Amino acid sequence: MARIKVELNERSYDIMVGSGILSELGRILKGEGLSREVFVITDPLINDLHGDKLRAGLKGIKHEVLEVPRGERYKNLKVAAKLIDELVQHSAHRDSLIISFGGGVIGDLAGFVAATYMRGINYIQVPTTLLAQVDAAIGGKTGVNHPKGKNLIGSFYQPKLVYADIQCLSTLPARELRTGLAEVVKYGVIDDADFFKFLEANSHHLNTRAFEDQDTLRASLKVWQTIVAESAKIKAKIVAKDETESGLRMILNFGHTVGHAIETLTRYKAYNHGEAVAIGMVVAARLANRLRLLDNGSVDRLVGLLLKLGLPTEVEALPAAKIVNALGIDKKVRGGKVLFVLPESIGKVVIRDNVSPRALASVLREMGCK
Ligand SMILES: NC(=O)c1ccc[n+]([C@@H]2O[C@H](COP(=O)([O-])OP(=O)(O)OC[C@H]3O[C@@H](n4cnc5c(N)ncnc54)[C@H](O)[C@@H]3O)[C@@H](O)[C@H]2O)c1
Repeated sequence: MARIKVELNERSYDIMVGSGILSELGRILKGEGLSREVFVITDPLINDLHGDKLRAGLKGIKHEVLEVPRGERYKNLKVAAKLIDELVQHSAHRDSLIISFGGGVIGDLAGFVAATYMRGINYIQVPTTLLAQVDAAIGGKTGVNHPKGKNLIGSFYQPKLVYADIQCLSTLPARELRTGLAEVVKYGVIDDADFFKFLEANSHHLNTRAFEDQDTLRASLKVWQTIVAESAKIKAKIVAKDETESGLRMILNFGHTVGHAIETLTRYKAYNHGEAVAIGMVVAARLANRLRLLDNGSVDRLVGLLLKLGLPTEVEALPAAKIVNALGIDKKVRGGKVLFVLPESIGKVVIRDNVSPRALASVLREMGCK
C-alpha cells in the first residue's frame, strides 16, 4: 500500500492507495482512533457494487449507511439538509465519523455535511472513481451546487484520511475512467515530466479492459496503483503549499479555463468534465506554442497521449467566439484579466494574463471550431 502525507500542520493527513484494501479499513480506523461511530454516505449504485466489501471492512465498528440518490443534481442543500436530519435522528455526536464512499459528488456532499454538522465533525474520503481518487477527494474542497451555479456553497474542510482502493475502478464505465485520466495527464504536464513519460509508456493499461484481462491483470493493477499514488502525491504537494487556492494551487486549473467554458456551452452533455479538460489542455499547449513558450514536439506528445487514452483533442460544432465570450464569466478571471495556465515544457507551467482573445479564437479554429 502506498502512503502519501498531505502536510498541513495540525490538519495533516495521509492518503493511502492500494489494491483490495477496503477490507482493511476498520483496522486502519482503529489505528487512527477514528472508529467510534461511523456514518457511511454513499449512493445506491456504489453501495450495490462495493458496499459489501466496505461493510466487511467495518466489521466490529458500529456503522450506519446513509444513501443519497445518484447524480450531480442531488449535490444540493436539500439533500445535505436531509443527511443532517438523519444524523440528528441517529444522535450522531461530535466524535462520530463520516465516511464519504463514492465519486466526487458524494465526496463534496459528505464533506460539506461533515464540515457543517455540529460545526464540523471528522470525515474520511473513500473515493471510488478515478477522478475522485486522483483529485476530488484530496485537498478539502467541500460543497454543494446552487441553482445559479456549481459549487457555489461550501468550504475548505480537510478529511482525516483518504483511502483509495483501485479495485473500485474495475466497475467504472469507460467514459468515467477517461474523465479521471484527463486529470492524471494534467499532473504530468504541470509538475512531472517522468510521470508523463510513464503514462506514455503504459497507456495500453489505461482502459477498462485492463481490469478484465486475467493474463495482464497483475501488471495493470501495479500500473494503476502507481498512477493513482503519483497523481495523489502531486496534488498533495500543491495543496500543502497553497491550501485555499490563493496562488500556486491555481496551476491545478491547467486546461480548466477553456474546459469549463466548453462544458457550460454544451450544457454538460456533449463533453463530460475530463473530455472538456483534455480539449482545454490542448488549447493551452497550442497557445503556449504561439507565445514561443512550448515547442512543437511537446504539443504533439500531449495530443498523442490524449488520443491514445481516448480523449478528444478537437472541438466540434462550437463557434470560437462563443467560447472566447464565455471566458468573461469564468471564475479564473482576476482583476478583469483571464488567467491562463500555460506549459513551458512537459512538467512545468507558468501563469499568464496576456493571452489575446484573437490568439485564442485562432487556436480554437485550428482545432475545429467554427
Ligand atoms: N472537491 C474537489 O476538489 C473536486 C475536484 C474535482 C471535481 N469535484 C466534483 O466532483 C464531481 C465529479 O466527480 P466524479 O467524476 O467522481 O463523478 P460522480 O461522483 O458523479 O460519479 C460518477 C458516476 O459514477 C458512479 N460511480 C462511482 N463510483 C463507481 C464505481 N466504482 N463503479 C461504477 N460506478 C461508480 C456514480 O454513481 C456516478 O453515477 C463534481 O461534482 C465536481 O464538482 C470536486
